[in-house]
Amino acid sequence: MENPLLSLTEETEKIEKTLKLHFQSDFSYINEITSHILSAGGKRVRPILTLLSANICGSNDRKLHELCIIPEYLHAASLLHDDVIDEGEIRRGKPSAYKIWGNKKTILAGDFLYARSIELATHFGNLKIATEIAKTVLLMSEGELIQLQYKNLGNITSEVYYDIIFRKTATLIIASCKIGAYSATDDSPKIKALENYGNNIGFAFQIIDDLIDYLPENYKTGKIKGKDIKEGKMTLPLILAMERSNTNEKARIQNMLAGNINEDNLHWIFNFINDKGINTEIRDKAFEYIEKACSALEIFPDSKEKTILTEISRFIGARNF
Ligand code: IPE
Ligand code: IPE
Ligand code: MG
Ligand code: MG
Repeated sequence: MENPLLSLTEETEKIEKTLKLHFQSDFSYINEITSHILSAGGKRVRPILTLLSANICGSNDRKLHELCIIPEYLHAASLLHDDVIDEGEIRRGKPSAYKIWGNKKTILAGDFLYARSIELATHFGNLKIATEIAKTVLLMSEGELIQLQYKNLGNITSEVYYDIIFRKTATLIIASCKIGAYSATDDSPKIKALENYGNNIGFAFQIIDDLIDYLPENYKTGKIKGKDIKEGKMTLPLILAMERSNTNEKARIQNMLAGNINEDNLHWIFNFINDKGINTEIRDKAFEYIEKACSALEIFPDSKEKTILTEISRFIGARNF
């Protein structure tokens, strides 16, 4: 499936230019790190969602691109911190900031980007936008913290998993949509619809991201070799695998989460998840969220923005890598 984000070249270019305008600090080492993460690539899903949400609610304001970069700075900040927490070595196809500059500088550069995004949010003189951004930072840090508490333990339930992914991923996607809507309208059904859309694609986004870690094709090509399980992170594929395991299999999964990983047991867990139909079940689950996201857009009349928002949600559901 064609990536619908690539159809917005002109808009993406404006967003890229604006992203470069506001990440500088007076300290060169902060600039090195913020520029490293921001120029390393990334799909720019969140700024595009802000833009399309504002557009679908009737705004074409020239300051819109400045609004769009707020969630991307916030996202970049969360990635800097996340790689410290997860000891993630590769980010956006490049060595992670934590790997190059170490924990301390990376955390501080992340703080800087969080603060910059909150500062930018106050530029719009709209308390709803500033509140939404501040609230999102809170929820995201809670999401990462809850996940950290469960590291290496095989006891995450579906309920806890959905709570984590709501906080760490869906909230920022919701905020990306809502701040766009807030900048354009006070019409609460429209704002509610975009919140609902963001919530559903947010869940689908993380569910698919977690599934990608266990897709057999990614294992075979060596693109991904169980990064999450190596990090001791229990996500939906493993939660469902646990539910379908006998005592020995449960112990084997638990043992892997505790850090005992080798090629044999990695191979085994990939096959187990695939053979039990867990991959398909999770893809279907993600598509349920996608369908809900598309339905949420029904209150809007047909438009170019509505088509692209629908395509983005379907692209998220179909993503393999
Ligand atoms: C990665 O987000 C972190 C998750 C929330 C799964 P993206 O997949 O949007 O990362 P980039 O911005 O394209 O690098
Ligand atoms: C990414 O989370 C960061 C946030 C959503 C805040 P993960 O740790 O699950 O994702 P990757 O694999 O590092 O991108
Ligand atoms: Mg993480
Ligand atoms: Mg991570």
